[in-house]
Amino acid sequence: MGQQQYGDYQYEIYGEGLHGVLPRFPMTFEGLAAGAEAALPPSVWSYVAGGAGDERTQRANVSAFDRWGLVPRMLVGATTRDLSVDLFGLRLPAPLFMAPVGVLGLCGQDGHGDLAAARAAARTGVPMIASTLAEDPLEAVAAEFGETPGFFQLYTPTDRELAASLVHRAEAAGYRGIVVTLDTWTTGWRPRDLATANFPQLRGRCLANYTADPVFRARLGREPQADPQAVVGLFAQLFGNPLTWDDLPWLRSLTELPLLLKGICHPEDVRRAKDAGVDGIHCSNHGGRQANGGIPALDLLPEVVAAADGLPVLFDSGVRTGADVLKALALGATAVGVGRPFTYGLALGGTDGVVHVLRSLLAEADLSMAVNGYPALRDLPAALRRVPTDD
Ligand SMILES: Cc1cc2nc3c(=O)[nH]c(=O)nc-3n(C[C@H](O)[C@H](O)[C@H](O)COP(=O)(O)O)c2cc1C
Repeated sequence: MGQQQYGDYQYEIYGEGLHGVLPRFPMTFEGLAAGAEAALPPSVWSYVAGGAGDERTQRANVSAFDRWGLVPRMLVGATTRDLSVDLFGLRLPAPLFMAPVGVLGLCGQDGHGDLAAARAAARTGVPMIASTLAEDPLEAVAAEFGETPGFFQLYTPTDRELAASLVHRAEAAGYRGIVVTLDTWTTGWRPRDLATANFPQLRGRCLANYTADPVFRARLGREPQADPQAVVGLFAQLFGNPLTWDDLPWLRSLTELPLLLKGICHPEDVRRAKDAGVDGIHCSNHGGRQANGGIPALDLLPEVVAAADGLPVLFDSGVRTGADVLKALALGATAVGVGRPFTYGLALGGTDGVVHVLRSLLAEADLSMAVNGYPALRDLPAALRRVPTDD
C-alpha cells in the first residue's frame, strides 16, 4: 500500500471519460458543499456547515493556507512518491485521516453514516477517528474498518466510570488510540443552530455509544428505548466535563493505548501535556465551531510542532485540498485531517462519496509532489515559503 500512486486516480477518471462516463461526484470542495446542501435536511446541513459566531475563524482557517506555497524544483524525476507515515508504530499508507464528526450517522443516506465512513476507511487505508457521538455504537463502527487502523475520540463524561467504560470498550473493539477532545465540554455559540433551535443530541440523535454502554444503562435504570426523554436527560447531565490538568493523570491511567489530546494549540499546553505522558497532540480549533474570533489553527501549528519536540502532531481545521495537506505537513504535522470535506462526500454518496473525497485529496497531494519535484514528505519543509503580500 505504501508505494501506491494516488495520482493515478486522474487516469481512472479520464479513462472513463473516453466511454462518456463523467465523475459521479463533484471535483471541488465548493461542488461537494453545494451537493451536500441539496442532499441533507436543512437542519443537518446548517449543523455541519456552520460554525461559531459569525464564522470568521472558520473562514480564516481556510484562507490561512493561501499564505503559504511550495517552491517547485525541476529535473528531479519524482516519478514515484512515498506518502506513507509512521504513527505510533503503525505504517499508514498516507498522512491523511478523517477527523471525528459527531453527526456522521445523520449524514449517511441510510442513517448509518458512521458505518459508511468506516467502510471508506477500509477501502482507502485512511484512518477514521470515530466520534463519541454516533448513530451506531463504536463496536459496530470498528467492525467495518477492515485492515485500516481506527481511533476513538472521547468526549469525557462527568461520570468517571462511564468514561472508563467507553475507553475500555474502545480497547476491546480494537481501536489503536484514544483522542480526548478538550475544547467542547460546552458548546460554542452557533448562530445557525440557534436560529433553528436545533441541536441533534438534545433530540436524541447520535447517542448510540451511551445507550449501548453498561454503565450508562445502569445509571438510566431502564431500557433506553422505553424512555427516550430520560436518555437525553441523562446524556445532558453527563456529557460535558470541564477537565483540568489535575484530571490528566486519571485519563492517562485509563489506557495503555496511545493517548492524544485534541484542541491543543498553545506551546505551553503542549509541554504540559507531554510532561503528563500523552503520546500525541491533535492541533485543531474544531474547524471554527467552538471559539470564534481566534487565530487560524494553521498559524499556530509551527509553535505546537516545536513544543511537541518529536511527539506526533495531528492537525485539522480548514484543510480543503491536497495542496493544503502538503502545506500542513511542511509545517510539521505528522498527519492531516479533514472534517467537512469527507462529511459532504458522505451526504452525497455514502461510502463511495467518502472514498471519492479521500482519493481526490490524496491524488492532488501526490500529483503536487510529482509536478513540484518532491518525491518524499521529508522534502516538504524546505520547499515551503510565505506567499509575499502587499501589507
Ligand atoms: C458536523 C461536525 C461535527 C463534529 N463533531 C466532532 C466530534 O464529535 N468530536 C470532535 O472531536 N470533533 C468534532 N468536530 C470537529 C472535527 O473533528 C474537526 O476538528 C473539524 O471538522 C476540522 O475542520 P474542517 O471541518 O474545516 O476540516 C466536528 C466537526 C463537524 C463539521
